Amino acid sequence: MRILVIGNGGREHALIWKLLQSKKRNKIYCTPGNAGIAKHAECFNILAEDINGLLDLVKSKKIDLTIVGPENPLSLGIVNLFEKYKLPIFGPTKEAAEIESSKVFAKYFMDKYKIPTAKYQVFDDYSKSLFYVEKQTFPLVLKVDGLAGGKGVFVIDSLKEAKDIISEVMKGKRFGKAGNRLVIEEFLLGEEVSILAFSDGENFLPMLPSQDHKKINDGDKGSNTGGMGSYAPVPFLKDNDKKWILNNIFQPVIAGMKKEERIFKGVLYAGLILTKEGPKVLEFNARLGDPETQSILPILKTDLLDIVIASVEGNLKNVEVEWEEKSSVCVVMSSAGYPADYEKGKIINGLDELDGQKNMMVFHAGTANKEGKIITNGGRVLGVTAWADNLKDAIDNAYKGVDKIYFENQYYRKDIGEKGIKFTYR
Ligand code: AMP
Ligand code: GLY
Repeated sequence: MRILVIGNGGREHALIWKLLQSKKRNKIYCTPGNAGIAKHAECFNILAEDINGLLDLVKSKKIDLTIVGPENPLSLGIVNLFEKYKLPIFGPTKEAAEIESSKVFAKYFMDKYKIPTAKYQVFDDYSKSLFYVEKQTFPLVLKVDGLAGGKGVFVIDSLKEAKDIISEVMKGKRFGKAGNRLVIEEFLLGEEVSILAFSDGENFLPMLPSQDHKKINDGDKGSNTGGMGSYAPVPFLKDNDKKWILNNIFQPVIAGMKKEERIFKGVLYAGLILTKEGPKVLEFNARLGDPETQSILPILKTDLLDIVIASVEGNLKNVEVEWEEKSSVCVVMSSAGYPADYEKGKIINGLDELDGQKNMMVFHAGTANKEGKIITNGGRVLGVTAWADNLKDAIDNAYKGVDKIYFENQYYRKDIGEKGIKFTYR
C-alpha cells in the first residue's frame, strides 16, 4: 500500500516506524517530515495546512491511504475534501474535529451528554467577562475558544492577571478570531491522564492510558509546553476507573457525535484530570497526542495498519487490540529556551550509537539534515523512547539513551515517569 502521513513531529515518526512493522508491504510518504522520518519515508515539502497541495500529491502519487497527524488540517476540512474525491483518509471531518477546535462546542456538547467536566461560563464580550471575573475566587482557568497551538489556556492566580489576559485576548486580539469567545472555568486539582481511542464512528478501541508531562521543569513547574515526555501504561489508573471512563466518557461522546451528525472517525483523545470526585474531562483532541503516541505505539502488539484500515472502513468491531506486557517511556530532548525563543542549527551527536538498539527508539521531531549532519530545527528535538518489563527499567533505559546524545543548548526533564511510580489514586 502507498500511505501518506501528514506532519513533522515525534508522533509522525512513531507512526511511520510502527507502520513499517506491518505485515503488509508498504511504501510510506510524509509531508513535510523531518530528518529521522526521511530515513523511512519519501518526504515532500508540503505544509499540513496546504490541504489542496496534499490532495494533488495524493492523486499524483496514487496514494491508497492518508493518515493525518496534527489538528490544523483536520479543522481546515482535509477529511471532508478527501472524502469528496473518495480518497481513504484516517481522521475526523471538520465538523467532528470541532470537539478539539472549539472549546465552546466541546463544553456545550459535554453539558448536553452529561460528560463530567469543570463548571464553566462562555463569554464573547469584554466587559461582561471582566464583570464576571471580578466576582470569582482564584485560581481560575481561562481558555480561548479556537485552536491556539497549545498556548490558549491560562491558569490564573489573581484578578490582575485575569484582567490582563482578557484584555490581550478580547481587545488586543492576541489569538485573532480564535479568541472571539472565552471559556472561563473552575480550576480542578488532580493528576492528568491521557486516554486515546481509535474510533470508526460507532465503535471504539482504547489505547493504553498514558501520562504527558506538560510543564517545562521537573516537578511540574514552569510554563506549559507541547509535552516534555510521556509514559504508558499508567499504573495508578485502576481497571474500574478505566472502565468507568470508557462507559461514561468515550461511549457517550462517540454516540453523541453520531447523533449530532458529526460522526467521529479517527483518534479521540480525552485529556482527563483525576479529581477527588472522579475523573473529569479537561479537553478533547481529535488526533493522536504528542508525546503520548511515542510511548504508546512501541508496545502495541496488533498491526497498526489493520486498526487504521478498520477505523476508516467502519469495521472496528472485528478488531482486537493487544499490547505487550511492558512499560514504555519517552523523554523529550528540547532546545534550551523552548517553549519561548530558542536557537536552531546545532549538530546532534550520538544518534548513531543508539541506532538498532533493542527496546529503544529515538523519534525525531525538530530535526533537519544539513549536508549529511543531523541538526536541531525546532523546540522539541527528539523523543528518546525505551520500553521494558517495568516502568522503572523503562525510565532507566530511556535516560541511558538520553545520556548518549549531545547537542549544544540541549534541555530535558529528569523526572519523566516518576509520577507513575509515586502516585496513587483512590
Ligand atoms: P487543555 O488544553 O484544555 O488541556 O489545557 C492545557 C492544560 O491546562 C491542561 O493540561 C491542564 O494542565 C491545564 N488545565 C486546563 N483546564 C484546567 C482546569 N479546569 N483545571 C486545572 N488545570 C487545567
Ligand atoms: N500531549 C498533548 C497533545 O498532544 O495535545
